Amino acid sequence: MLKLAIIGLTCTTLLILILFGMSNNPTVCEPSENGNSTVNDDTIMSEHLQVEAILHYATSRVIPQQTMEEINISFNILKSLTPCNLLVFGLGHDSFMWSSINPRGTTLFLEEDPKWSRAILKDLSFIRSNTVRYRTTLYEAEKLIEHYNKEPDCWATKSILRGNSKCKLALNMLSNEVYDKEWDIIMIDGPKGYFDQAPGRMSAIYSAAVMARNRKGPGVTHVVMHDVDRDVEKVYAQLFLCRKNLVHGVGKLWHFEIPPALDMNTDFC
Ligand SMILES: C[S@@+](CC[C@H](N)C(=O)[O-])C[C@H]1O[C@@H](n2cnc3c(N)ncnc32)[C@H](O)[C@@H]1O
Ligand SMILES: *[C@@H]1O[C@H](CO)[C@@H](O)[C@H](O)[C@H]1NC(C)=O
Ligand SMILES: *[C@@H]1O[C@H](CO)[C@@H](O)[C@H](O)[C@H]1NC(C)=O
Repeated sequence: MLKLAIIGLTCTTLLILILFGMSNNPTVCEPSENGNSTVNDDTIMSEHLQVEAILHYATSRVIPQQTMEEINISFNILKSLTPCNLLVFGLGHDSFMWSSINPRGTTLFLEEDPKWSRAILKDLSFIRSNTVRYRTTLYEAEKLIEHYNKEPDCWATKSILRGNSKCKLALNMLSNEVYDKEWDIIMIDGPKGYFDQAPGRMSAIYSAAVMARNRKGPGVTHVVMHDVDRDVEKVYAQLFLCRKNLVHGVGKLWHFEIPPALDMNTDFC
């Protein structure tokens, strides 16, 4: 048991060191030409957050569930885009890591389980998270595809989430912030999808696709999805995020780059 804990601790510390070592942020001690320090409050806050993250993970007995190779995919995207808008479905032991890699951006988590939120946020009060009450359950996954086919409010031509009560796949209960911000990266590692009564990731996947299609800014929306070894994740991803947008697959993680829909009269894929 102790041996396992030590191995876990060593791996996490190594992981953090490797990840932070690969990022090339300016260092605090660099003086400017006139001898003034270039450091501003923002930089101090960001570096403070990152140092706290190193301390957190180096002393934590629990580590994130994704593998190094899977984490590395999101890490590379985040590193290239930060400061950016990152929306994450599911709180976990990785939440502090993602927030700290995007210290000057906006990182928002959506979590279904209030008890789990309290447990994770207990020592990490600066992490921003909304509780979401999903309208779906995993056992409806197949029925919801029929519903999608029949319900015009679900179709790509409609592509709205806010106020969309007819389409059960649309997350219509989110905060205005989620609808009003343009998310550069959407990470889907929640809600729970491993037992019949769990919400399943159907509406998270559908809603991520809608958000990506509606992007107005330059560039694409990156969607990273975990647990693609499961059928529901696989089928819904292929239906809404599309094979043609899949750019990487590592372990149980898929990375999609979804362009904005220039013509709303096209289908999802
Ligand atoms: C696959 S987990 C997210 C794991 C996270 N990305 C990580 O690497 O630690 C997805 C959902 O499962 C639930 N969950 C995860 N770990 C849990 C735990 N140890 N106890 C209870 N619920 C958990 C939460 O509701 C969470 O949103
Ligand atoms: C630092 O910058 C301020 C304002 O730009 C300037 O007034 C001051 O002389 C600078 N100090 C040094 C040591 O160059
Ligand atoms: C992470 O990804 C980068 C960029 O593709 C690669 O150079 C690096 O070797 C990867 N690191 C690990 C530990 O997988």
